[in-house]
Amino acid sequence: MTTWHHLGTRPEVEARTPFAIKVERQQIAVFLHDGRVRAIGNRCNHKGGPLCEGQVRGEYVMCPWHAWEYSVVTGKGPPGYEEESVPVFAVEERADGIWVDSDPVSPRHLIRHEPHPLTVIIPRPAGAPPRVLGISTTAMDATNPRFSTSDHLLEAALGHARTKLGAETRLVRLRDLQFRACEGNYSKAAHACTWPCAITERDPEDQLTAVYAGLVQWCDVVLLSTPIRWGVASSLYFRMTERLNCIQNQVTIHNRCLINGKVAAFIITGGQDNVQGVAGQLMTFWAELGFIFPQFPFIAHSRGWDAEDMEVNVRQVRASEALGQAAAELAERAVSQWRGLDQGTSGAVKPMERSGRKAQRLSNPPGAGSE
Ligand code: FES
Repeated sequence: MTTWHHLGTRPEVEARTPFAIKVERQQIAVFLHDGRVRAIGNRCNHKGGPLCEGQVRGEYVMCPWHAWEYSVVTGKGPPGYEEESVPVFAVEERADGIWVDSDPVSPRHLIRHEPHPLTVIIPRPAGAPPRVLGISTTAMDATNPRFSTSDHLLEAALGHARTKLGAETRLVRLRDLQFRACEGNYSKAAHACTWPCAITERDPEDQLTAVYAGLVQWCDVVLLSTPIRWGVASSLYFRMTERLNCIQNQVTIHNRCLINGKVAAFIITGGQDNVQGVAGQLMTFWAELGFIFPQFPFIAHSRGWDAEDMEVNVRQVRASEALGQAAAELAERAVSQWRGLDQGTSGAVKPMERSGRKAQRLSNPPGAGSE
């Protein structure tokens, strides 16, 4: 049985390159380099990215998923990485056009690599002290800081977790991290949005690793704080959550949930309203990641739509013992929920006070009827 396959006339092939074809059981990427048609395996050695969609610079094609490179002539990696190679297929130009042999002239050669540090997940021993990760999403100039109401309450919650609940705590401020925006790799292919994130793998300078490691490897509980900006969470929050798509996407493409038995709760503050809208958006996203919520999973403060005098908002939050107490109680509910999960008794977590809202502290006025 012949292993040679007709790709088309030379003008037809030139017009199509680069492209991939499947012949026999081989996926072959076809390129035009230095006037000659070249064929190598289409599947990248790393995670199977399609090389025919990569950028070609000189002799090398760069995988579109995480930037590994291969020579379109030899199938080998660039200098220093030559041992890594994809198959090479013979190409012949005949009178009737271009032919490729689906029996490779050189095979794939995979090098064993150390696993990426983010893929190493060490199970937490039962009964270990809770680890509470705070994520602050408010934007601020470090050299000219201002008072942040959401940071203030987050620090109160973390302080309580540390001093009263025996928790280890860690605080990540997104404003301190240099990290790139998500590039929506899933729209190239569902499997192109990988764990670890393609940007993290490609760019060692990208600092969102602190969030990935904190969420997936370190924490039991995450407390996230955000201001309300134009009715939604902060811009840094969205910049981060788009990059967290790679955690959620593992469920979609591999049925693998990286977040198990972890609890999330939220602190939302703003001079103007839309607390419920922001809370709903946060809860939807963090539920999709696999987090579980305690009873009453957020606290919030806002003075309403017409409260344009933000400095009053700041003064109120700063002076409010009730809000500081509410932040502490939020930490308690979240840690209690996690302890229930850790001990396998989450169904028995005792109902807790809902805190942080004036209405709850008011008793029903005499004579108030039900609606
Ligand atoms: S799949 Fe090709 S570089 Fe990761």
